[in-house]
Amino acid sequence: MTDNTSLPGPTRRGFLDLFLAICGAITACAATIPALIYVWPVTKKGPGVDRKVVEGAEDFAPWESRTEILNGKPVIVVRAGDRFVAYSAVCTHLGCIVNWDAQRKAFLCPCHAATFDVNGKVVDGPPPAPLKEYKVSEAGGKIYISGA
Ligand code: FES
Repeated sequence: MTDNTSLPGPTRRGFLDLFLAICGAITACAATIPALIYVWPVTKKGPGVDRKVVEGAEDFAPWESRTEILNGKPVIVVRAGDRFVAYSAVCTHLGCIVNWDAQRKAFLCPCHAATFDVNGKVVDGPPPAPLKEYKVSEAGGKIYISGA
């Protein structure tokens, strides 16, 4: 037979200490988890495609362009004479979206007046690097763009 009188019973102070510890842990989790979610790098990308057909590209007039979205990123496809070129529409300076100017045969960034030639190279302005090039291929009479 055991003697229950030797075990300490629950005390009000013990209960309050436990209650405060649990509340503290919940508060710490509530503050920490959103912060970690915010700073944790995004590694999972949404559904993406590695290659995309440029509908109607074969009917482009010379120097005509179209902006396509490939893997969530804007890509400008241009019929440069008898070939097609494709470059990222994201300026390498601060990330503004560039536009194709068929009259000047150049990509123009509206943010800081940068100019890129038809090969994506910086002609004028502050960008430190050329536009990212995408691969253009033809199969079955269709024009495809894919990541470089
Ligand atoms: S963001 Fe394009 S030139 Fe600055």
